[in-house]
Amino acid sequence: MSTLALTVNRRAVDLAAEPRTSLADVVRDHLDLTGTHLGCEHGVCGACTVLIDGVPARSCITFAAACDGATVTTIEGLDDDEIATELRAAFTREHALQCGYCTPGMLVSARDLVLRLPEADDRAIRVGMSGNLCRCTGYVGIVRAVTAVIADRRARGIAPEVGGGRTMLGPVGSGHGAAQDERRGAATRAAASPSSSLQNVAIADFTPAATIKQTFEVQHPPAQVAALFADVAAVATCLPGVALTSAEDPNRIEGEIRVQVGPIAAQFAGVARVERAADGMSGRIIGTGNDSRSRSSTQGEIRYRLLPLADGGATRVELTIGYTLTGLLAQVGRSGLVRDLARRLVDQFAANLESKLSGHAVELADADQHLNGLALLLSLIRARLPRWLGGTSRR
Ligand code: FES
Ligand code: FES
Repeated sequence: MSTLALTVNRRAVDLAAEPRTSLADVVRDHLDLTGTHLGCEHGVCGACTVLIDGVPARSCITFAAACDGATVTTIEGLDDDEIATELRAAFTREHALQCGYCTPGMLVSARDLVLRLPEADDRAIRVGMSGNLCRCTGYVGIVRAVTAVIADRRARGIAPEVGGGRTMLGPVGSGHGAAQDERRGAATRAAASPSSSLQNVAIADFTPAATIKQTFEVQHPPAQVAALFADVAAVATCLPGVALTSAEDPNRIEGEIRVQVGPIAAQFAGVARVERAADGMSGRIIGTGNDSRSRSSTQGEIRYRLLPLADGGATRVELTIGYTLTGLLAQVGRSGLVRDLARRLVDQFAANLESKLSGHAVELADADQHLNGLALLLSLIRARLPRWLGGTSRR
């Protein structure tokens, strides 16, 4: 028996399996994730396709032992995924399935194409999907569905992602064939340097559980605001509680957010992908993070748009913040409170941004070096108290 440590659908899993056991058998028989289908069991039909470290792979011919340390996403793990949601709707609309046996593998492979292809090219889609066989549909509806999703996303200004999460050469999963000693060594190195454990974390699109829209204005031209937004390190200094641990690649940053709500202290270590429109007037930051102490994890996305105001001398900043919180903090952080905290955080960010754009140093007081949830909660209570008292006296 080999002991394996995997992250399957964002959940850490430790299990024992025979060296000959396939990844497909592990996810189906050990983890009850039966959305991964088995057809040929010879690597031909693609029904068993899953994501290993963000890259599609046939789980029927992948030894589970070779995936030790890997992140595996099955079709169940794509329930909340933005691209998979759009693909499911398109598959339904275009009659791209009949018996549905091939569909989980089709969706996993199609998602990879949607992520990577610059445009909805019919030949590239057919070649890209040629490793997935369907006995029912004749493929026309499948190709139409994938084409529609790619075309729609590019029309909405969502850029393709070069490599689609591929971070290393060689067969998928090959980076995890090392013995456990190597894994332990990596864990030790990760402890010494927290950011190193984030290097292979895939950042998947997702559908946020909650979304907050907020707008603020700064008295500086859009081009100046866009220039500052392009400097991730400068933006981070305006956010209380945020510290970058690596920004060598300006499109992929690593950092930490510290949150303190009374006795509850959390430190989310995470990684984020930064995307910007060519003119810098809009963009998106999407990331994922974990706090090991509270066993909470979060996925977050900030979309921004810069609009000129007052003959171009001022800028309206439109933010759409989406997040999904799981674990202990999700239980104590009722969504109303989280929303209000987020609003106050944005207010602080706007004030700091204005200072920075005016050439003043942004100096966060010691107590604000972390996102001080207690202080924010107190100000929230102060703001809500009259409403609560009013409601009480009326009753
Ligand atoms: S079952 Fe894996 S490719 Fe057919
Ligand atoms: S829908 Fe039946 S095999 Fe594809």
